[in-house]
This record gives sequence, C-alpha cells and structure tokens, in this order.
Amino acid sequence: MSKDSLTITDNRTGKSYDVPIAFGTINAMDLRQIRANSDDFGLMSYDPGLANTAATKSTITFVDGEQGILRYRGYGIEQLAERSSYLETAYLIIFGCLPTRSELQVWETEVGRHAMLHLNIQRLIETFRYNAHPMSVFISAMSSLSTLYPESREVTDPTNRRLQVERMIAKVATIGAFCYRHNQGWPFNYPDDSLSYVGNFLRMMFRMTETHYQPHPVLEHALNALWILHADHEQNAGTNAMRVIGSTHADPYSALAGAAAALYGPLHGAANEAVLRMLEQIGTVRNVPGFIDRVKKGEGRLMGFGHRVYKNYDPRCRIIKRIADEIFEVTGRNPLLDVALELERIALQDDYFMSRKLYPNVDFYSGLIYRAMNVPASLFTVLFAIPRTCGWVAQWMELLNDPEQKLSRPRQIYLGEDCRDYVPIEDRR
Ligand code: ACO
Repeated sequence: MSKDSLTITDNRTGKSYDVPIAFGTINAMDLRQIRANSDDFGLMSYDPGLANTAATKSTITFVDGEQGILRYRGYGIEQLAERSSYLETAYLIIFGCLPTRSELQVWETEVGRHAMLHLNIQRLIETFRYNAHPMSVFISAMSSLSTLYPESREVTDPTNRRLQVERMIAKVATIGAFCYRHNQGWPFNYPDDSLSYVGNFLRMMFRMTETHYQPHPVLEHALNALWILHADHEQNAGTNAMRVIGSTHADPYSALAGAAAALYGPLHGAANEAVLRMLEQIGTVRNVPGFIDRVKKGEGRLMGFGHRVYKNYDPRCRIIKRIADEIFEVTGRNPLLDVALELERIALQDDYFMSRKLYPNVDFYSGLIYRAMNVPASLFTVLFAIPRTCGWVAQWMELLNDPEQKLSRPRQIYLGEDCRDYVPIEDRR
C-alpha cells in the first residue's frame, strides 16, 4: 500500500478502501466506489461554499493564508507593486512570464488600440438612469460586448482568444470610466494611448476642460500599485463564477459579466463600498467602541475584516496602508482614516476578532484611498473589477487549456418531498 494514500473504512459495510493522496487532496470521484449496497449512488463529499474543495490545479496565483503570502506566477506582490506596471503584471498573470521589452511594447500597443468603445456600447451606457449603480451598468456593458464580437464564441481557437483578451483588458477601463462620467452627467473622454493604462484611466475619469490632461504622478503611481494588488486572488467567488461560466464554453464577455456580478456582492468585492459607508456611519473615533460592541453582539459585521483564506494579516493591506499615506500627503488626510485606524487597533486586541482570526482585508483601506482621489463610493467595486479582469481572463484561459477540466456541475443532497401526485387547483388547501 502506498504511503501517499488514505484508508477509509465504511462502517456500514465493514469494507475498507485505499484512496490515493496527491497534492494534499483525494480525488472526490474516488469516493464514488464506496457504496452501502448495490443500489447506492456512491459516497459524495458535502462542502457548502466549497470551503475545503480544490476545483482546479493552477499555476497562476499562490496564497498562503496562514503566513500572509501572495505571489503571482512566483513573484511576490510586494516587489510587483513596487516595481512593475499594471499592464506588465497583467501580462505576467495571463501569459505566465514577465514580458521582454519588445513583448511589453506589443502588448501595450495592442491593449491601447482596443481601448476605444463601439458607439453602441456608449449609447447603451447613456440609456441607464443617471443614478443607476455603476456596477450594474458595468456588468450590462460587459455582457453586451459579446453582441459586437460574435466570433468570441470560438473559445477553442488560441488566436481568437488572445484577441478577446486584449479587448477585455482594454475595454473594462473605458467602460468603467464611462460608467462614472454617465453617473456624473459629464461627457465621455475618449482614450489617449500616449498615457499609461492607469494614467489613461485617470484621464478618462477626471479630464474636464484641459486640453492636455496630465494625471498627478503620485495618484497614478498609487493607483498602479493598488491595481497590481487587486489583479488576481486565485479561486475567489468572482473567479469561480468566471470558471463556472467558462466551463460551458460561453463567450468570455458573458463569463466576465458573471464574474463581475459575483464581485458585486458586499461579502466580496463590494466590501470596499460597504467599509466606507460603515466608516461614515460611525463618524468619529469616539463612536468606535460602541460600534465594536454591536458587531460582537451579532448586530452586523465589521466590513473589511475577515477573509476565507487569510487567517493572518492580508499582505495586500500592509502595502495599501503605505499607499494611503502617500496619497494623503497629496490630498490631505481624511478624518475617516482615524476611525479606520481605531477600529483596527481595538479589533486586533479584542478576543472576539482574535479568536476568529479576523484581520483587515484588502478592502479595509482601499475605499479611503479612492475617496481621497474623489471617486464616489458606488464606483469602488468597478475600480476592483477593472484590475481583476486580468486575473479572470488568465483563469479562463487556464481552464480552457486544462484537459482535466469539465463542465462545472456540482451535486446536491436532495431533502425535498418524495414522489407525489398532482393536485387539481380546486382541491388544494
Ligand atoms: N465581522 C464580525 N464577525 C465576523 C466577520 C466580520 N467581518 N467575519 C467573520 N466573522 C465571524 C462570523 O460571524 C463567524 O463567527 P461565529 O463562528 O461565532 O459564527 C466567524 O467569524 C467565521 O465567519 P464565516 O462567515 O464563517 O467566515 P467565512 O470564511 O465564510 O467569511 C468573509 C469570510 C465572508 C469575508 C467574512 O469574514 C465577512 O463577511 N467579512 C466582511 C465582508 C468583507 O470584508 N468582505 C471582503 C472579503 S475580501 C474580498 O472578497 C476581496
């Protein structure tokens, strides 16, 4: 018997089974052979929220939640956030290696070329009410791109896939900025490929009457680092949605819209918006202890705290705190930062949070940075979705190239009614 195996004894039958262990997992299909009798379907595992189930092998992002480590393709996010550009990191995440100078040039040119948006999509954005949530508009616009590029359904063709990837990376930034401009009632700024990806985004967002808009270098640098930190995070809810939809071979724009929809929830990517609203509601440092008491009584959550994977300080949060300091030097200090710091200080000493290993996550401080940059809270999740697009497309490409992957289709434990006869409406009580 191999040492790398698990022996399972089924006490219903007294039979024993040896199941191989590989990469610290057993293959769930190996459980199927374990049956109580010949009519039995076979054993399954039950895992709501897939908290202990690996659904894929991946070479993209490594997270060690206990140690607080995050790496893209082997490179620590600290080095990337310090030294790389968002588009270079996107290339690394999608294609697996850092680009040479000429590869980077081609990549930047191609992404820059696709940044224009078809007028149909611009008009679609204009049809939404001025106060529509930007994330709803973003999701709609992303899914609508599939109407313009029907060839994107040829998901098994690598050349076609590369074209769609360039389009997706390029267009999310334009769509995100247009969602904001529509919300504000200002005319759209078309892309300018003389600027960096991040610089161009800032221009599309904030250019008013200036002929030559130049993004503030500190804000551009900070947003670049922030977007690198948000670029991928292995199998989170949004990525899982991208993979589930991608596994049906739907076009990538539909899959991306689904991933963005998953990100929109306050337990996931909309936590940054929820954090800011929470800080505004708390208002002053004086109110922090009372708020913490209410959280401990179960009257709401401390938004921006806790993570499914990190049971230690989220490594992104440490870098984001540094970025916040740089930004506040330019924009002035937001008094809500003091509320956030006090929340963190108290929570990190409190047994409720310590015993549950609840630490600040990536969203705890990012909202304050965006607010300092004059971005409204409703746009925060869009500013998460834009950089996360490179992670989504990388995971989608990995899925399509992985011969072990199948149509995603989980099982259930049926606990409903047994077979019963249809009751005519007049006989129902
Ligand atoms: N505030 C207060 N208590 C919390 C919090 C929180 N933020 N997060 C978890 N807990 C408590 C739960 O009530 C539970 O307590 P119990 O054992 O007494 O019932 C325990 O900690 C475990 O919580 P779960 O919800 O089971 O943990 P899970 O891993 O499923 O949740 C999640 C992770 C959803 C992120 C959670 O911590 C949360 O809701 N955080 C607030 C929202 C947030 O910041 N989300 C952003 C995450 S980062 C991202 O998606 C980009």
